[in-house]
Amino acid sequence: MARVLLLIPSESYRAPDFMEAAGRLGVEVVVGTDRRNPLQGESGGRLVELDFDQPDVGATQVEAFATLHPLDTIVAVDDGGQLIAARAARRLELPYNSVGSVEATRNKARLRELIAAAGLPSPEAHVLPLNADPREAARAVTYPVVLKPLALSASQGVLRADNETEFLAAVARIRAILQTPEAQEQCGAPLADRLLIEGYVPGIEVSVEGLLDGGRLRTLAIFDKPDPLVGPTFEETIYVTPSRLPDADQQSLIATTEAACRALGLETGPVHAELRLHEGRWYPIDIAARSIGGLCARTLSFGTGMSLEEILLRHATGLDVPSYEREAAATGVMMIPIPRAGVLRAVRGVAEAEAVPLIESVTISIRTGGLVVPLPEGTEYLGFIFAKGGTPAEVEQALRDAHAQLDFEIEAVE
Ligand SMILES: Nc1ncnc2c1ncn2[C@@H]1O[C@H](COP(=O)(O)OP(=O)(O)O)[C@@H](O)[C@H]1O
Ligand SMILES: [Mg+2]
Repeated sequence: MARVLLLIPSESYRAPDFMEAAGRLGVEVVVGTDRRNPLQGESGGRLVELDFDQPDVGATQVEAFATLHPLDTIVAVDDGGQLIAARAARRLELPYNSVGSVEATRNKARLRELIAAAGLPSPEAHVLPLNADPREAARAVTYPVVLKPLALSASQGVLRADNETEFLAAVARIRAILQTPEAQEQCGAPLADRLLIEGYVPGIEVSVEGLLDGGRLRTLAIFDKPDPLVGPTFEETIYVTPSRLPDADQQSLIATTEAACRALGLETGPVHAELRLHEGRWYPIDIAARSIGGLCARTLSFGTGMSLEEILLRHATGLDVPSYEREAAATGVMMIPIPRAGVLRAVRGVAEAEAVPLIESVTISIRTGGLVVPLPEGTEYLGFIFAKGGTPAEVEQALRDAHAQLDFEIEAVE
């Protein structure tokens, strides 16, 4: 029986779905997680504590564990474990993406450099050190621009600026985010003291869920993002698959995504890529060497009911994958953004939202009684709405109708 090390940071939404898939496949799982791990006791398997904030230390811990309990493969379910996985796999000679390629997915400046160097459509980009005076850069850039931290995720700290005033305000806001201990831990020192300025790429945005095998990209799903993502913050909301884009656009999308993976040096395992279509060309915006985040993968089902997590575990352990064919039905998810800061007092209308036709379920993933923080500072969602059936347009409408039934009582705090 294969022994898999699953790297699951404590803030991950992905733990139960991966554990369930592993259980179904009968693979032996060891969960590598950080000190804040919420899985204790319920993981049903072995647990190893790793230093997620210092990937080199984490990789050494994995190596030490593997000398006692040999590992067959490592799967990092979220961004947090990618660097540990790549480093440990290199030392243990296990198959994984190269350290350099994974580093490029965890550093937006490097990602941009490699995409542009490969001749792929890419906006102009500059790195701004946070200890420098931003006024000169604010005068020099061509607006609109997007400013973003190099190594955060979930759109945290990503802001559009249309003029110098907005630019300077965005720099101040991102600087404050990057000074929090959480961001410092997540970014690591050299990446937390600068930000990236990119030309704003107008146009529709999609995500591609794929699986790389020897550098070849297999497309598992293309999600349309029908809500306009024009800034100043970029909250993810609705994802619907299959895509309503014409075939020709889907073909060029897949070709560009594969070329972008090649440009970064990614060769194996899952990819979650975001691209924008501008003047007939796809601009890679963000490429991650993992599957789609949050609970969004619950919209995907393959063959006779295989989950995305099962496909990824089968692929990682060398088991046969009986089908890569997504089910015929249109499906979608809405990540419910936090509308304003405050204490979440109550959530109403869940039953009414679930009663909307085509709605499969509504999951509120945030605790009532706690502080909720919207973008650009926050990183969480209030929950997820799932829909299935009919056309992609009907799925989209069902998600909007269900969302309209929900009422979040958020008490402002001074
Ligand atoms: N250069 C850009 N032009 C237009 N939109 C952008 C640009 N960069 C980022 N965005 C928007 O912000 C979102 C989040 O940015 P991204 O680089 O993916 O950071 P994160 O790692 O936080 O997801 C993107 O999905 C996109 O909607
Ligand atoms: Mg992104």
